[in-house]
Amino acid sequence: MQPVKVGLLGLGTVGGGTVSVLTRNADEIARRAGRGIQITLAAAKEYNADAIIGLDQIENITDDPFSVVDDPDVKIIIELIGGYSPAKELVLKAIENGKHVITANKALIAIHGNEIFKAAQEKGVIVAFEAAVAGGIPIIKAVREGLAANQIEWIAGIINGTGNFILTEMRDKGRDFEDVLNEAQSLGYAEADPTFDVEGIDAAHKLTILSSIAFGMPLQFDKTYIEGITKIEQQDVLYAEELGYRIKHVGISRKVDNGIEQRVHPTLIPERRLIANVDGVMNAVLIKSDAVGPTLYYGAGAGAEPTASAVVADIVDVVRALTTDPENRVPHLAFQHDALSDINILPIEEIETAYYLRMHAIDRPGVVADITKILGDSKISIEAILQKEPVGNASCIPVIFLTQCIKEKEMNTAIIKIEKLDAIDGKVTRIRMETFG
Ligand code: HSE
Repeated sequence: MQPVKVGLLGLGTVGGGTVSVLTRNADEIARRAGRGIQITLAAAKEYNADAIIGLDQIENITDDPFSVVDDPDVKIIIELIGGYSPAKELVLKAIENGKHVITANKALIAIHGNEIFKAAQEKGVIVAFEAAVAGGIPIIKAVREGLAANQIEWIAGIINGTGNFILTEMRDKGRDFEDVLNEAQSLGYAEADPTFDVEGIDAAHKLTILSSIAFGMPLQFDKTYIEGITKIEQQDVLYAEELGYRIKHVGISRKVDNGIEQRVHPTLIPERRLIANVDGVMNAVLIKSDAVGPTLYYGAGAGAEPTASAVVADIVDVVRALTTDPENRVPHLAFQHDALSDINILPIEEIETAYYLRMHAIDRPGVVADITKILGDSKISIEAILQKEPVGNASCIPVIFLTQCIKEKEMNTAIIKIEKLDAIDGKVTRIRMETFG
């Protein structure tokens, strides 16, 4: 049988990795797919020819991506240019031309996925996006297919490698935030705009996708609560450690009685949990489901070949499905298109979680009692208190509280009252805390 002809958009980190993996493992991949796979056309503005194995086997490399999606011989388009435009126009044009699409573009799927999947559904083509979430971890396949028997209760993921790398280096080596970010950029982990990594936007894109396939609802990025890691201070990392916790940037999606919590933010996790020990650029996703219980997926969340691994797995899936009836394929969002439901995504004030609070208090009798009275009156139960010695001649001391679960709006009200105490200097630092038990 003739090899399947594929058009590739983008020859950057992931595009280059995809060509290299497809070339190196061509025989095994063809045995799995049932046919050879040949990238006949590629579009790229610039690329590092020396770093890509198999580049010479691509018949034509152009700088016009629309000529690739319009080529009549190409059956599958791989979109690895990233960003919203022209990626969206290219993907929609490829679909209109009846081609299957594979993309690693989480921003595109999280924001325009509903429109893209509708177009694909109408045209009977596949849009595959395994590489969009958690790099090389086959998490989309696991949730969409492997857990299909289950009611998923919650998902918690460390899904931004750059952010995890920064937090790990800050904790282990006391390194400076900017310095670690620069290293992540030079290693090809960070987004083109690294604020997407450090402000939590990249993780929110990925969580939005996971949440939709876990709970069978349209993608709703605009309702995801997003907080990044830029305000995390070294002292909080150290106090958390002293109390037996690690600070991780986590995406959490949880089904509760009145809707879905969908939030990304720094989170204290007990250090005994496996997920608290996921370090460096590695990603992990912990899923609690009713039949199987907790399952944990771990692996490289970014980088050329780990992400290419997911892209190539999608190519194999699409090639295997080329001759299948479109109605009998795995639905894009795991649930049949007409069975998606509009479950309410809760505003952050409505979520319930435990908290780490750090404040600067004047070192005199009765201050901690005043704070605990506010917490007690607000029905906030205290789990632990840590009071540190003053630094040098400072009149204030750091006081840290760990609380039990409470609704966020109750906590906000209590924090306002604590900040008004004349013995409290400045703002209270508040970090959410989860046990994932
Ligand atoms: N910038 C992303 C990360 C790349 O650091 O996780 C993989 O999506």
